[in-house]
Amino acid sequence: MSLFRKKENGERKLPVHIAIIMDGNGRWAKKRTLPRTAGHVAGSENFKTIARYCNKIGIKYLTVYAFSTENWKRPQGEVDAIMNLLRDYLKDSVNFKSENIKLQFIGNLAALPEDIIALMENAENESKDATGLVVNMAVNYGGRDEIVAAVKEIVSSGETEITEELISEKLYTKGVPDPDLIIRPSGEYRLSNFLIWQCAYSEFWFSNVLWPDFKPKHLEEAIDAFNLRDRRMGGLSK
Ligand code: IPE
Ligand code: IPE
Ligand code: MG
Repeated sequence: MSLFRKKENGERKLPVHIAIIMDGNGRWAKKRTLPRTAGHVAGSENFKTIARYCNKIGIKYLTVYAFSTENWKRPQGEVDAIMNLLRDYLKDSVNFKSENIKLQFIGNLAALPEDIIALMENAENESKDATGLVVNMAVNYGGRDEIVAAVKEIVSSGETEITEELISEKLYTKGVPDPDLIIRPSGEYRLSNFLIWQCAYSEFWFSNVLWPDFKPKHLEEAIDAFNLRDRRMGGLSK
């Protein structure tokens, strides 16, 4: 059976929300005997390519895992290099206005360097009226940290009627539908603390390709695989 049949018939369903764990930059660099930071440079370039592609084909939300609450454990030089790449991207992003991509940041942002917070606010402001793809970039993001922050907010508000909707509204991802499809390249089969509340009914797609090598054609493969899934959500097939 051809994976592409649905696409040829024009019946393909696009996931509304795709989330990607952008992993494998270090191994990509190592394979080329380059420093790990070169892998992060290539990974960050690739993020732009994939985001543009998602916008082009009509994906509504793309959430990317850029830096986790656990990634601070890495050598200071690597952390600094990643933060500098983020700075470069943020400074550049205001020039992408014509692309109609809306940028939002999720995570414990208050703990980031002040200049980065200001650049993020600026990028969000500059792109707030865009009507195309919404990119949620997860920086200093951890799913457990996100849930703890939500619980603290609920407790301090005095609210006692605790519902799933209330918790969802207090997460960094408030207002964004849960991801339909979560993609992890680089041959790892874990979430590493990414969207652990939101992924309750997400479909997962794993690939051995390292993130800097992950091309639009791999995204297409993931979307085709998604089309063959039967999402019963606990009910019965339609
Ligand atoms: C993902 O690539 C980028 C971040 C976690 C910031 P890695 O740096 O984890 O690459 P590998 O997993 O070591 O190959
Ligand atoms: C997950 O990758 C975080 C990001 C891609 C930003 P890691 O490389 O940090 O995950 P582990 O350590 O392999 O689980
Ligand atoms: Mg990794």
